[in-house]
Amino acid sequence: MSINYQERTGIITIETLHTMYQMRVDENGFLQHLYYGKRFSADDMTYLYPGYDRPCSGNPDEAYPSRMVSFNVFPQEYTGYGIGDFRINSLAVRNADGSYGADFRYVSHETGKGKYGLSGLPASYGTEEEAETLVVRIQDPVTKLKAELLYGIFAEKDIITRAVRIKNEGQQSVILDRALSMSLDIPFGKWDLIHFHGRHALERQTEREQLTHLVKKVESKRGTSSHQENPFIILCDRNAGEDHGACYGFMLVYSGGFTAEAELDQFDSARIVMGIQDDQFAWSLEPGGTFETPEVILTFTDEGFTGLSHRFHKIIRHNICRGKYQFAQRPVLLNNWEATYLDFTDEKLLALADEAAALGIDMLVLDDGWFGERNTDDRSLGDWFVNEKKIRCGLKSLVEQINAKGLKFGIWMEPEMINENSELYRLHPDWAFAMPGRIPTRTRSQLVLDLSRSEVVDYLYDRIEPLLRENNIEYLKWDMNRSLSDVYSATLPPERQGEVLHRYVLGIYDLMDRITTNFPDLLLEGCSGGGGRFDAGILYYSPQIWCSDDTDPIERLNIQYGTSFGYPVSTVGAHVSASPNHQTGRTTPIHTRAVVAMSGTFGYELDPGKLTAQEKDQIREQLRLFRKHYDLIQGGLLYRLTAIQEDTYEAWQFAAEDKSEALLNVVVTAPRANRPLINIRLKGLEPDGIYELTDESDGYYMAVPSEPPVKEWKKLFTGGALMFGGYTLPNVWGDYPAFQLHFRRIDG
Ligand code: DGJ
Repeated sequence: MSINYQERTGIITIETLHTMYQMRVDENGFLQHLYYGKRFSADDMTYLYPGYDRPCSGNPDEAYPSRMVSFNVFPQEYTGYGIGDFRINSLAVRNADGSYGADFRYVSHETGKGKYGLSGLPASYGTEEEAETLVVRIQDPVTKLKAELLYGIFAEKDIITRAVRIKNEGQQSVILDRALSMSLDIPFGKWDLIHFHGRHALERQTEREQLTHLVKKVESKRGTSSHQENPFIILCDRNAGEDHGACYGFMLVYSGGFTAEAELDQFDSARIVMGIQDDQFAWSLEPGGTFETPEVILTFTDEGFTGLSHRFHKIIRHNICRGKYQFAQRPVLLNNWEATYLDFTDEKLLALADEAAALGIDMLVLDDGWFGERNTDDRSLGDWFVNEKKIRCGLKSLVEQINAKGLKFGIWMEPEMINENSELYRLHPDWAFAMPGRIPTRTRSQLVLDLSRSEVVDYLYDRIEPLLRENNIEYLKWDMNRSLSDVYSATLPPERQGEVLHRYVLGIYDLMDRITTNFPDLLLEGCSGGGGRFDAGILYYSPQIWCSDDTDPIERLNIQYGTSFGYPVSTVGAHVSASPNHQTGRTTPIHTRAVVAMSGTFGYELDPGKLTAQEKDQIREQLRLFRKHYDLIQGGLLYRLTAIQEDTYEAWQFAAEDKSEALLNVVVTAPRANRPLINIRLKGLEPDGIYELTDESDGYYMAVPSEPPVKEWKKLFTGGALMFGGYTLPNVWGDYPAFQLHFRRIDG
């Protein structure tokens, strides 16, 4: 058991392989946070926080007349509200009598094997062997509002999850104006905050800044987790790097608007809170009612970002993603979007299928434009019946013909959206979000369906279900191309409009749950104008998410780099597209595009009919290599070997956990005359092991003409040589060359 309770001292200690978490029920019944960090022989950490009489910091009645105890100072597991803690709070409550207050005391706790679940919300899952649960109950003695603090412990993975179940056990309703998932106080240290900001076509850019006495807020108010910020942050030592330094990671398992806030208080103690965005949030909790917050996944390591990322990669792959394709080899697909956009017919699609089959691709995905009268992107969202002017043979026949060529078939939908120019809108105009008396803001000419209404969710399921049942559709790309505005539900009373945004997210999860439960073999790929909803909530239903609408490989290096801090390669939708690239106009070698896309789910998004015979041969070789190294790429340990944009090349590597092989990837991002040698130190190898090199990129880059090719260089290396001396690349020539070097251990 990783959870230990000492009745004498009131101390609850959670231990994982390398971390320890401690809290205490103090003599007044307050639940005090004591420690989260590196594991050592469990000790009572109360000594860290001697009481002080702090001026301008109030004292709770239980401690009175002592002035040594103050909520405004001491570390807490979950804050109350309105009772003298003036730091960022995890909860805001309006009581029936009009007071703003919640004041919790410890009630009880219990432990159990296995992992708690949340109703209607995605959460990490685990067997009784791999996970345990701690529930600590605290309650306000006056209003009887109870908070059950949930802790899920994955001891071997060094992961602790947190969520809160708020119950109204009083006689009167209360309104939750803020109900966050966790609060963590870290009283000592100097910290940096890393967050992942961006925009459409440039998601998850890494930004690091000092934590100061200002409240730093990483948030999305868009009703989705968003392109602009990601619900994942890192708090790290000022000097932390890839291989060293204390780091905490916080990832919210939620796909709607979120907030992550951090500050240093007046005594330099850090507090971090995370949960649902509270702007336009107000949840009425009736007597007997329960509100469950989404889950936060936490980890701590004192070994830098690489170790932190490995832990998130593991928990997501093993305990968030589910279904047939959690570990099974996923199909390599050809998506027609950048090949045809909305301009296609069944003939064109069948021609693409012929090309795909001849190359050895596994699946053809039919993107936007197959339904209603969708010849332009201002119409027909909501009309999920096939456009027989474009697909004259009908969908069933198209799928059959594609299957007959040896290809699987996948399709695109954007279920949450509606165009005013659609049959659905003409029938149900009130199904779209709109505030009374106002014309809602359009984005890409579309409005958002009110998925907080169960009849809307039912309608969507009733459209999607026959489509999937009647046609052999093995993959569904679930797109979502706008942020939410004008949020107002026609069926909820005025005082409950603050529930709509969260109910909308619950509606999405309900729909995704029904689809994945009833079509367990379907591969879902999440998408939101690229990577605008790249979060662990969506990954619970779909093991991969289209990472960005920017398919330029050089820009993708940046995007995939930031994404890799929290999310494993197996979740990153990435394709080889045409050159010049459609987003940037940049020209790159097809080999380089493939090296970058292979650090993802891998696929193509171009018209193979426009490629040369030589490029087609390259594609066949790319498919061979991707399949050959599939397990290493998808399940191996990822090492970021360069910090993004620090040099004229980017390097990253996959290493098998048993150190039996590694794949080094390098993209040279700028040509240089008389360039210094590029030397890269590998990681995660056995120092005394002997490794044999295969240059998988042989022939696909140009060495400076006077130099011998790599294959004539050294072939065998010790792991130590590669890790401490590094590997020196040949001096390359031309635009954006890329290397893929495989090292296989040949001794022992
Ligand atoms: C946005 C997606 O990210 C693209 O891949 C494509 O599916 C378009 N939508 C289609 O409208």
